[in-house]
Amino acid sequence: MRKFLSRALKVAGVAFIILVLAYSAVAVVLYSSMGRFPLKDTPPPPRRINNLVWPTVGFPAVTRPGYSVVVEFDPGNGVQDAGRENPAGWKASMKASRAGLSSLTYRLKALKAWLAFSERWPRGTRHGSPRKVWRVEFQVPPETVPELYDLTVEAVKGEGWTPDTQPHSVSVTDKANNDFRFVTLADIHVHRRDISWLFQEQTDKGISRDGTPVYFEEAIEQVNLIRPDFVILLGDFVRAQHSPGDYQLEFEEFFKTMLRFEVPVFTVPGNHDLYVNEVNGAKVWEETFGPLRYSFDMANCHFTAVNTSDWPFQDRIVMEKFGLFVYPRKWQGQVSRASNERDPETFKGQLAWIRDDLEAHAESRLRVVLMHHDPYTPDGEGRAWENERFAGAFTMGGGGKGRRALLELFSRCRVDSVFSGHLHCDDVGRERWSAGGGETVFANQTCVYFDEGGVQEKYPGYRLVEIEGAAVTSFAYLDREHSIPLYDGSVLDGETNVDRLSLPAISAEYAEPEADREAAGAAWTVRSYLAQPMELRGLVTGVDSPDGGFVARGGEIYRVVPIPGTGRSLVYLSARLGAGVPGRSASDTGKPFEREVSVRPAEAEVEAAARALTP
Ligand SMILES: [Fe+2]
Repeated sequence: MRKFLSRALKVAGVAFIILVLAYSAVAVVLYSSMGRFPLKDTPPPPRRINNLVWPTVGFPAVTRPGYSVVVEFDPGNGVQDAGRENPAGWKASMKASRAGLSSLTYRLKALKAWLAFSERWPRGTRHGSPRKVWRVEFQVPPETVPELYDLTVEAVKGEGWTPDTQPHSVSVTDKANNDFRFVTLADIHVHRRDISWLFQEQTDKGISRDGTPVYFEEAIEQVNLIRPDFVILLGDFVRAQHSPGDYQLEFEEFFKTMLRFEVPVFTVPGNHDLYVNEVNGAKVWEETFGPLRYSFDMANCHFTAVNTSDWPFQDRIVMEKFGLFVYPRKWQGQVSRASNERDPETFKGQLAWIRDDLEAHAESRLRVVLMHHDPYTPDGEGRAWENERFAGAFTMGGGGKGRRALLELFSRCRVDSVFSGHLHCDDVGRERWSAGGGETVFANQTCVYFDEGGVQEKYPGYRLVEIEGAAVTSFAYLDREHSIPLYDGSVLDGETNVDRLSLPAISAEYAEPEADREAAGAAWTVRSYLAQPMELRGLVTGVDSPDGGFVARGGEIYRVVPIPGTGRSLVYLSARLGAGVPGRSASDTGKPFEREVSVRPAEAEVEAAARALTP
């Protein structure tokens, strides 16, 4: 018996060693540089950030009429040292980004120009290591209409001028109070439509057969209807891991689509966005959206955007082996670096920057951190950071550093909220601050797209975050933990057939104004299947400008903007929708709250009233 046992142990030992060796061999083959994606001829996306390095399309300026904006201009060719302190050597203009309003333009007055280190690019500007850029203060004309604008800045260069433009980079707001609201969207994953597997049919809803990102377009439409003060995109805009050249094609599709937002957009990088697939995603990011990490203030609330895919180049490479794609080595969270994650004094690199940024804003009313990977997750384990084990043997994807360090900083620096994505699910964790007096809420959220169809324990959605009186008063649907669903029939605590989702949870059906004078104006049928009230501020229409002004029904006019040179005006209305009755599943239609919202010339109202009185 003993002999048998010792033999069995020996066999088990040898089998174990063989297994370990086999796993190691597989790991070496998978992750050696051998067989990386071959280079194809797909050109890299065009460089979109050139000389005007702030504000940018992914890191816009939010300001008010009559206020000033300090832009950053880096010619990137050494001409920084030429004397340009004279404001007369600088010009800037803004053109409304909204379709139909492009004739609304303003010249900005240059007040001051000086050379200084960038305040917007913590690692130095897109052109390289920290060095001085031209910071130019421009005044936004006091008569500026609150809208989103494309900004063009010109600098004297020898005998001519070099204009540079950033679309959607300046948002002008006339908010009188400090309350505001924003939408967060995560994991949009615009991708090519060729990733079906044998047992996993790709849904038409993530990407349609003609390549349209259906859910993303629906999200943009609903966000424009809500018209929050801004939107935050929490990373993973593309997929970039199926075949060579994916990155460029997906990225272009994403960029083209995101310009449909009619509100300013702040972008935060996810792992997929920084993958190396023919091109280096981190470089493309900086050439398109702006810095990988940055911070900004909104009504004395401080926002810090963090890059949680802080992995070296080698770990971000997507490869192809034997005709199959192989994930990059790392896709979970990492923020470097610290020799002791419990001791902020030892932090370096991005962690030191986060520490300094949060400490410098200790007096802000609220600190909010935006990041792709949630360092906490409800149980405190940090599922977006942990090691994933391949067949129980070696780790893939995870093992990232900096998780503890972030939690330490958030607790010490009294961070109020952390918004994240990556895990494609609604999860909320809470941790008390070490010194007491409050807690950090870690709000992870669902995705916008699904590559797999069928039944899922999630649905596409978004968070609408409301800040009132220096506090986050709402960030979840029905004030629980969920995201607000994009479609009726989404099941909160159960299974949703995502293929069957088709009825937008909120919508506004526009009725074209009729030709006869009485009916001149415009009307919408607005609907909401949401089980909570919703305020829409994005009912915007162009109508002929009457002498006596407009009258609204079913909603309120909050702005009228004459469109230069047309005799027409753009009318902005808000409408408060009551709660509807949501459908119980994707094949069961709910009962919407429905309302007509219309706007007409005031004289048409008077005429109609007079006629009603005539016997
Ligand atoms: Fe991700």
